[in-house]
Amino acid sequence: MNESITLTDNRNGASVEVPIVNGTVDARAWADLLPGVYFHDPSFGNTSGAASAVCELDGDAGYLRYRGHPIEQLAEQSTFLEVAHLLLFGELPTRPQLNGFADEIAESASIHENFHKRILEGFRDDAHAMGVLVSSVAALSTFYPDGKDVEDPTVRRSQMVRLLAKIPTLAASAYRRSVGNPYVQPDPDLPYTSNFLSMMFRPAEGGYEVDPVLTRALDLLFVLHADHGQNCSTTTARSVGSSHADPYVLLSAACSALYGPRHGGANEAVLRMLEEIGSYDQVDDFVAKVKTGEQLLMGFGHRVYKNYDPRAKIIKETAHRVFEVTGKNPLLDMALKLEEVALADDYFVRRKLYPNVDFYSGLIYQSMGFPVEMFTVLFAIGRTPGWLAHWDEMLTQNSRIARPRQLYTGEATRDVVPIDER
Ligand code: ACO
Repeated sequence: MNESITLTDNRNGASVEVPIVNGTVDARAWADLLPGVYFHDPSFGNTSGAASAVCELDGDAGYLRYRGHPIEQLAEQSTFLEVAHLLLFGELPTRPQLNGFADEIAESASIHENFHKRILEGFRDDAHAMGVLVSSVAALSTFYPDGKDVEDPTVRRSQMVRLLAKIPTLAASAYRRSVGNPYVQPDPDLPYTSNFLSMMFRPAEGGYEVDPVLTRALDLLFVLHADHGQNCSTTTARSVGSSHADPYVLLSAACSALYGPRHGGANEAVLRMLEEIGSYDQVDDFVAKVKTGEQLLMGFGHRVYKNYDPRAKIIKETAHRVFEVTGKNPLLDMALKLEEVALADDYFVRRKLYPNVDFYSGLIYQSMGFPVEMFTVLFAIGRTPGWLAHWDEMLTQNSRIARPRQLYTGEATRDVVPIDER
């Protein structure tokens, strides 16, 4: 079979044959044939904006792999720090590599006292944790101007370690500030996720024991969120990074993109939706409203997955393990019924709408004691190695600045009328 397409400009009969390589055609061939004529693809649904070796997903087949490793195997056998090493440096670590990496992270986890006093203390008491995270990650840029030398791979490596190390500390500090509790310093003797839980929940007088089942569940959730190809926040990260901005403002921009309810903010929106539905017997009425377009079923649907999201399957199993420790989340029955009703309904079947990663994650977070405002922050901690891996990869590719074209739909040329004559 000839793996190519032929484009013909019917205005003059000129044509060009373009090979199909890995399911893509090179837009430069189009540009050569049709200078000044552009693809109009506002949500990039039919545009590949990056070549990446970080993560592969197939929405029809329903699989997700990080650097070739199936997500199911990573979820079962690897910790979040191993997965972060895999995404950032290309391979799962040996034990000595992992120990060295964990030590580097532990050494960089604390944040400057001025940061607590002058920046975190400046927010309103009811500030949303994601707003605090977005701003405080950006503020790190002012503390670490060395991060601006983005073309130096050694500099990039230390910024990646620093950001991965500090993001849980910032997240926990944002939470403790919002509840008026004193900040807890990172404990270098604790593993990554236990340390985060300790910074979140340890009482001032000490004596906090992290439950191993809950720690493993949260670590697993971080693994499942660690990367997902060119989603909205990663595309934002690559776009900002393409201007050679420093990684702190880049990560802040990625967190901003994640915040929206169509993306990472969906985990918070699912919980609010379940609370609004209120009871099991209201589920059918709610689904009816979704079908008339009055509501969205949050936690359902995905641009790429047109099959069950493999992460949602693992999260659903994890939820049951967590509820054995915490007791069942009262919203679970409603969520299960929503899923059952939706998966049997022609509206959802025809549109291939399945639960995504956010449908069950919020129930777990809530049962573990996280307030709803922290849910997207948890997603951001998990996604940090993915964003950084894409940033680093892009800078090794001699990429050009991101600069799409636009289809202008405004007024034709017109004269400016002096202000008093308008
Ligand atoms: N509930 C009800 N209907 C839906 C939903 C939903 N959650 N999602 C999509 N649809 C419908 C659309 O209305 C559309 O119907 P139509 O063909 O009659 O117009 C059809 O399904 C196709 O939807 P699109 O809008 O084309 O899907 P798109 O790929 O642009 O959007 C998105 C994907 C944003 C995830 C969307 O499904 C959504 O808003 N879901 C709810 C929010 C959510 O859970 N986001 C998390 C995504 S995963 C993540 O980012 C971590």
